[in-house]
Amino acid sequence: ALEQTFIMIKPDGVQRGLIGEVIGRFEKKGFYLKAMKLINVEKSFAEKHYADLSSKPFFGGLVEYIVSGPVVAMVWEGKQVVSTGRKLVGATNPLAAEPGTIRGDFAVDIGRNVIHGSDSVENARKEIALWFPEGIAEWRSNQH
Ligand code: CMP
Repeated sequence: ALEQTFIMIKPDGVQRGLIGEVIGRFEKKGFYLKAMKLINVEKSFAEKHYADLSSKPFFGGLVEYIVSGPVVAMVWEGKQVVSTGRKLVGATNPLAAEPGTIRGDFAVDIGRNVIHGSDSVENARKEIALWFPEGIAEWRSNQH
């Protein structure tokens, strides 16, 4: 089915110059960029995005990492883009991520894993609403 997912390039990805690389992979796969912004997020906002992980020992470090520099927040649309986008992203631990995936090709540290992708259609809906409360401009590719 046609889906939307939330993808975020984390501060390490922005600082290492991987924005174009990430966008290129999603575009070339055949997905459509529906919204995008480069922003610095507040600590309270990062805590909201990662609320489900608040009891984890790495939560504090994770939030510090996300607020350490600008991130690129995006909405991508396409057939089965939630699960297929996760395949392009690769496993959470970059050392376990397959070569050919973004984390597999560009990272070695679980705490600096370049990118976030929604893990379910339901979480994608929640994350898109959190990150793009202003809404998303409508456009439709003539390819889909
Ligand atoms: P992400 O896909 O954004 O979802 C949760 C994030 O928590 C994950 O990517 C990692 O950045 C981070 N994370 C998960 N497990 C660990 C861990 N063991 N140590 C540090 N960070 C982690």
